[in-house]
Amino acid sequence: MDRADMGTKGSGGACGVCGGRTYLIERQGDLAHARICECSVQCKVCGGRGHVLGQQESTFSKKVGPRTYDVLMPCSCTLRQKRVARFNAVGLPGVVAHSSFDNYIPAKTQQDKARSAAMHFAHHYEKAGGNKGFVLSGPVGTGKTHLLAATLAHLVLEVGVGARYVEISLLYATIRRGFQEGKSGGEIIGPLSEVEVLAIDELGKGRGSPFEMETMDELIARRYNAHRTTLFATNYSLEPERKATRAVAGYHSTDDAKTTLREAELLRERVGERIYSRLCEMCTFVELPKDTPDHRRTRHELEPRGHHAHAKIRATGR
Ligand SMILES: Nc1ncnc2c1ncn2[C@@H]1O[C@H](COP(=O)(O)OP(=O)(O)O)[C@@H](O)[C@H]1O
Ligand SMILES: [Mg+2]
Ligand SMILES: [Zn+2]
Ligand SMILES: [Zn+2]
Repeated sequence: MDRADMGTKGSGGACGVCGGRTYLIERQGDLAHARICECSVQCKVCGGRGHVLGQQESTFSKKVGPRTYDVLMPCSCTLRQKRVARFNAVGLPGVVAHSSFDNYIPAKTQQDKARSAAMHFAHHYEKAGGNKGFVLSGPVGTGKTHLLAATLAHLVLEVGVGARYVEISLLYATIRRGFQEGKSGGEIIGPLSEVEVLAIDELGKGRGSPFEMETMDELIARRYNAHRTTLFATNYSLEPERKATRAVAGYHSTDDAKTTLREAELLRERVGERIYSRLCEMCTFVELPKDTPDHRRTRHELEPRGHHAHAKIRATGR
């Protein structure tokens, strides 16, 4: 079932709405939501039965030798439905519903590297395991969440991997609420420690309270011990020796001095030695320089007012 092609083959040209991907990702409230495209709701392959007749060679008796048998196999439409349902359980934010590798515009060499790292991870993911994750570090609005979203969407919808996305402060809030309802931290962390690929966004954000540190430590330790792949995005800086390039020249501090101060802080200091050393083993590091333009701002400056309101339905370019 791996890497099965879900495209509409032989339909005489790709669908104009989904571009032949057979599904669409749209924003639905706070979340990114996938649905099967109109072109593929009625399955032309199995006629809606959900399975197709295939042939399998087996040897049941040595005397007769190998023989071919008719077997019922799940149709690709069943696979598609499962993947779409799985995607809708990932928890990706609605603001990055349209985010793909194709519509990520690298303004800097390091952004190109970040995109390549994420794409390489997504396209070479091995379901058998042993996949090294990545940590994307960089200033606000440089497309870190965009790349996490593009990566998870590819994995879930095109490769058939189970994945979850969590924004760190929402995770802490959920666990706190769980505590109040009498659940243990482990009960809430449990499912997250088992999911095949977990993306943790805004690593290092928060108050750094003992509760937060312990929660993160436990989650990462569990995933580490289970050899699970974890992806991270953070606004905090990596260790100087981990930076591929440093664009210090021409750096102008923003108007918000506090932000500048916070961004100057190192991820290592924010998350502590234990977590940081685990990250080093679990992930490759990509850092976007401080002077990478904030895409949200650039977009506002370049486009006339209200002009970039997203189209209601937009196919993702994956
Ligand atoms: N390089 C880029 N190319 C295209 N869109 C981008 C890029 N960087 C950011 N965006 C868009 O800008 C918005 C903010 O990006 P986001 O990924 O949330 O930034 P970050 O997580 O780094 O703060 C999103 O809608 C995202 O799709
Ligand atoms: Mg982000
Ligand atoms: Zn379509
Ligand atoms: Zn079918």
